[in-house]
Amino acid sequence: MDKRPIGVFDSGLGGLSAVKAIIKYLPNEDIIYFGDTGRVPYGSRSEKTIELYAKEDISFLEKFNCKLIMAACGTVSSVAKNAMASVKEPFVEVVTPASKAAVKATRNNKVGVMGTAATINSGSYESAIKKLNSGISVSGVSCPMLVSLVENNWIDSDNKIAVEIIKRYLEPLIENGVDTIILGCTHFPHLAPIISKVAGSDVKLIDTGYEAVMEAKTILQKNGLLNDLSHKGEASYYISDKTQNFSEIAHTLLGMDISDRANFVDLNNFKSV
Ligand code: DGL
Repeated sequence: MDKRPIGVFDSGLGGLSAVKAIIKYLPNEDIIYFGDTGRVPYGSRSEKTIELYAKEDISFLEKFNCKLIMAACGTVSSVAKNAMASVKEPFVEVVTPASKAAVKATRNNKVGVMGTAATINSGSYESAIKKLNSGISVSGVSCPMLVSLVENNWIDSDNKIAVEIIKRYLEPLIENGVDTIILGCTHFPHLAPIISKVAGSDVKLIDTGYEAVMEAKTILQKNGLLNDLSHKGEASYYISDKTQNFSEIAHTLLGMDISDRANFVDLNNFKSV
């Protein structure tokens, strides 16, 4: 039994899709979430900057003596190899578990990946999938505008602009006949109802946040690191900028009000103030 928290980070609020899954599937675990709302998006930045940001995010979480750290960010998981390799705690990223799930799910060996520009350019999901099964064809599409839709709370299925943007992004994947799509950025599961409506109900969507949490659960179980079953898990939230509508957006994404548990972190000294 290990009472230490699980540390989760993302470039913004998208990683709350992983937090939602931890609350549901690991209800006894405490969570420290860091969303770098002051510097989102990461997906349009250079490898050097993403490495630097990821290192800072990780060292912030390391101050909390976490038993496991999760990069709930497809971009960091795809690009920040050095930052990820430097983590001393058990570590989970999203590319490997989501790729495994896609390989299991596809029936016609055609998998699509939606991600940020950095993720798609890195070819991370493609190489992870090919390593598992070289017969699977992978088509990737970079969908940077979806991050803004989520960060601005434009995620309701009646939102005509969101539907139109998603239609445009999905066109090449639908043309390629994919039967499985990895929502390769943790912001995208929040748009899953619209993506599913556009792609069709036969297309299986892989939620990166959920898959990463299942991987974390396996690691914690194997190493005897789960918390006491009588403990009710609590989450604390840290953000690098109190952006407008933060509470409202977090409420929509998580289905609960977290405004009284959200703390601002000064990026200059990475101290909670
Ligand atoms: N949530 C991040 C990811 O999973 C992307 C958003 C961004 O561009 O910062 O890739």
